[in-house]
Amino acid sequence: MHLTREEEKMYAGEYGPAVAKSMEILVALGDIYQANGMVEVVSAQISGVSYKTIGDAGLEYLEDLVGEGAQVRVPSTLNPAGVDLDQWHELGFSEEFTKKQLLIVDSYRKMGISTTCTCTPYLVGNVPILGSHVAWSESSAVCYANSVLGARTNREGGPGALSAAICGRTPNYGYHLDEGRIPNLLVEVETPLNGSDYGALGYQVGKTVGSGVPYFQLKSNKQKIPKVNELKALGAALASSGAVALYHVEKVTPEYKDVNKQLANLDKLTITRENVKETREKLSISSKKPDLVCLGCPHASLEEIGEVARFLTDKRLDNELWVCTSISIKAASDRMGYTKTIEKAGGHVVCDTCMVVAPIEDLGFKVIGVDSAKAANYVPSMCGLDVVFDDWKNLISIKS
Ligand code: F3S
Repeated sequence: MHLTREEEKMYAGEYGPAVAKSMEILVALGDIYQANGMVEVVSAQISGVSYKTIGDAGLEYLEDLVGEGAQVRVPSTLNPAGVDLDQWHELGFSEEFTKKQLLIVDSYRKMGISTTCTCTPYLVGNVPILGSHVAWSESSAVCYANSVLGARTNREGGPGALSAAICGRTPNYGYHLDEGRIPNLLVEVETPLNGSDYGALGYQVGKTVGSGVPYFQLKSNKQKIPKVNELKALGAALASSGAVALYHVEKVTPEYKDVNKQLANLDKLTITRENVKETREKLSISSKKPDLVCLGCPHASLEEIGEVARFLTDKRLDNELWVCTSISIKAASDRMGYTKTIEKAGGHVVCDTCMVVAPIEDLGFKVIGVDSAKAANYVPSMCGLDVVFDDWKNLISIKS
């Protein structure tokens, strides 16, 4: 693949071993995917943060990079960690796990990466504009960046995104190119969608389309533009049951007009109310009452936390409740009084982590209630727990 003179210098070690090692990874990726060269990125979003997923080997890799003087060249943010970095003790996480987790986060901090610890970086300032190239690795955020913001990123692995952050480059292939953004499945949605229906829809379509690009026509939602929260749920589910990195929604997402000339030749999938209902049922593997309800997958927006707080005003919860979000959104929630209301009802606004990457299986819970199709898909395999999938108001139990 073609490298500029600057990139060759990086590869040759003129900027030190960390840059050379990172450029080697990028070149290897570029060769595998037959990229013609590199493209400069304006931001990175890096996964591989929870000690539960990367373990001691990951920590060692990061500490080596820090020792070699690694520093990021572009604004970079971090995916969720395995614990709430401030409230870990109160939530029951072990000191042993937390110690390792803090070392991981500190390694990233030393490289100049913002320790945002969130999968919704686009809610807290990492917001690339239409057409800009980025290297993001959290699959739900990748889907949001490509589809809703119209930025361009492949589904990077953690090391690929970190290497891109260190070099300010990523191999130019896939979703960075116009031809990678063309849809290959037309999805006609014939039923109105509400709440967690968006996740169920994404889960079903992701299974069908795999790593393709679906183009949605929301035929029954004509008067209603989906909200940010609904689009983030849709993308997260598409990216978890399939390997979707980009979707288009007619009259909603920014690139639909660039690609809608191709619709006549596409395979078509029709989604009815019955299909959505069946998928919702499939996602619930338990019919028991959840002992922990976990909302905020992807991490909750201030609006979502506000809705929960308003619902819980002057009520007492009968099951444990976590609303997962980033530290920045929690700060706004604190100021709005939402956190206090949720805590008064017996719940927690949990930051930096989530029900999938935290070791919740060690906290004594048996059945988790989620309103996210992505979480419903991952909790059984990642945490070994039973899961109930439903709209959040149906999951929460209130003491009489
Ligand atoms: Fe985010 Fe965890 Fe869901 S990383 S997308 S809240 S599984």
